[in-house]
Amino acid sequence: MLAKTKKLWAEQDRHPGDRQRLFTAVVDATAAESALYPGSFVDIAASFVLPEVVYVDTDKRAAAFFADEDGVRELIAEHGDVPDASFSFLHADYTAALKLPKKTTFDLLISLYAGFVSEHCTDRLKIGGTLLVHPSHGDVAMSSLDERYVLAGVVTARNGEYRVERTNLDGYLWPRKPVEITVDSLHELGRGIGYTKSPFAYLFERIK
Ligand SMILES: C[S@@+](CC[C@H](N)C(=O)[O-])C[C@H]1O[C@@H](n2cnc3c(N)ncnc32)[C@H](O)[C@@H]1O
Repeated sequence: MLAKTKKLWAEQDRHPGDRQRLFTAVVDATAAESALYPGSFVDIAASFVLPEVVYVDTDKRAAAFFADEDGVRELIAEHGDVPDASFSFLHADYTAALKLPKKTTFDLLISLYAGFVSEHCTDRLKIGGTLLVHPSHGDVAMSSLDERYVLAGVVTARNGEYRVERTNLDGYLWPRKPVEITVDSLHELGRGIGYTKSPFAYLFERIK
């Protein structure tokens, strides 16, 4: 493994195992086997629990990291629970058409701190599949406006442990302040909406 691969992973995993615990909770709750991860940077923890992941990022350091395929494979084997996990990396802008076969769709779409992933990549999520989305960049609010999605769960975090809650979801997504939420206003705002309840992340199911 190249030294820079090791270093970048150590920086990414600075709260050791944190992402692995998050993805484990989500995969246990959804039974997802494949994921598309736009704006992944080098967050290969998804491959520790999922048999198939496609990572997408424009960042050159991410491209160099994934180019060290043997090194990444070594990290996945060292930390992961999935024998022969398959992964690939697209050095690409997720807002443009992704170079994947037309019919390729995924069980899970991951949107963590990387902008409006749901807006551009939902066509790659299977109907019945799950969007995992963190609220910080406004993508939760964007997904809540999107008729292709219904709220299907929330991910709560406590003492570094993650849990998926699937009941009493009516109490979520209520803005703290009265505010008109539209696609345009979210683009303009470029960040999340303050809600009365603030779980770590949300799960939306694609229904159409
Ligand atoms: C703050 S980092 C988050 C990385 C990772 N999701 C995580 O949670 O650790 C945001 C990443 O999204 C990538 N990104 C933002 N917009 C993008 C786009 N339109 N296409 C591809 N990558 C993008 C950036 O290059 C960066 O690596």
